[in-house]
Amino acid sequence: MIVSEFVPKPYKFILDSGSVAYSSPSNIALVKYWGKKANQIPANPSISFTLNNCKTLTTLKFEKKTTKGFSFEVFLDGIIQNEFKPKIKQFFERIEVYLPFLTSYHFKIETSNTFPHSSGIASSASGMSALALCLVQLEQRLNLEMTKGFFNKKASFLARLGSGSACRSIEGTLIVWGSHTNIIGSSDLVGIKYPYKVHPCFNNFCDTILLVDKGEKQVSSTVGHDLMYRHPFAEQRFAQAHTNMDALIEVFKTGNLSAFISIVEREALTLHAMMMSSDPYFMLMKPNTLEIINKIWVFRKKTGLHICFTLDAGANVHVLFPENEANEIREFIKTSLVMHCQNEQFIEDILGEGAQSIKI
Ligand code: PMV
Repeated sequence: MIVSEFVPKPYKFILDSGSVAYSSPSNIALVKYWGKKANQIPANPSISFTLNNCKTLTTLKFEKKTTKGFSFEVFLDGIIQNEFKPKIKQFFERIEVYLPFLTSYHFKIETSNTFPHSSGIASSASGMSALALCLVQLEQRLNLEMTKGFFNKKASFLARLGSGSACRSIEGTLIVWGSHTNIIGSSDLVGIKYPYKVHPCFNNFCDTILLVDKGEKQVSSTVGHDLMYRHPFAEQRFAQAHTNMDALIEVFKTGNLSAFISIVEREALTLHAMMMSSDPYFMLMKPNTLEIINKIWVFRKKTGLHICFTLDAGANVHVLFPENEANEIREFIKTSLVMHCQNEQFIEDILGEGAQSIKI
């Protein structure tokens, strides 16, 4: 499938060498993407909060070459990472038709994350989106006629081909990816900014990430998505995601935080229920994940505060809460939840506006 809108016309300028740089954030899905079709097309729509503090910073240095094929090296915190190369090579192969200059340069990709290395936080969304943005910025230098809107759209389109959820990291603060009847402009190909009214109670919404288990992922998301192909509950799950998207539209309009909590926690537990009921099955939550969830439920019942949790495909817990309740909830997190984290590590984040170009 070639999407002609993103295939460029012949470039106007020639560049021999240079560098571009971008910082791009992580995002946390409220309605989860789990299951995909060919060409990185999601099996259901998803919606996410863009984060502010958890980011990848990437510098892309390029130099003209005459040899054939792709040529690149990757560094994380200044150390060469040959194990990242297969994933990036696959990314380049998928996007070459949209960026024909890819074989004309040797690239040096230098990247670092603001969150602790191997914290169990997925760096693929921030990492792939940062790389996609650098590549589109280089393309813009070869062909200056590109509106900001198209720049972001192409970056999201390319990022998706690197890692699905990466297409939701270009802009903020609320991003929809995947076609949904009741969200105008929604698309399987790119993430778009949520186009409707959002109640002010969601302004500066907070996400404290509790690092329960910083180990390697037990199951890659590629394997996880594939397990949905023959999952006995797949169709019901995909239908449920659409229903939850509709319910969230109403929540964002009215600011009904109790309904928000119920949808978001159900989505998180459904994601894990899908993993626990696939063949083969996986259990990615740890005892401390459950300790934290139970304590959140008890605290919420006792105080009436609007604290809730969501999970990624791992044991870490994202604790979500509105800004006006942040003082009490942050105190509770520090005194009662942080003890369940590995080395008591956690990250305080809030909603962010998306990626930014870095001047170098
Ligand atoms: O982008 P991927 O292929 O790593 O998949 C991410 C899937 C989840 O993080 C579990 C859910 C989501 O929508 O982000």
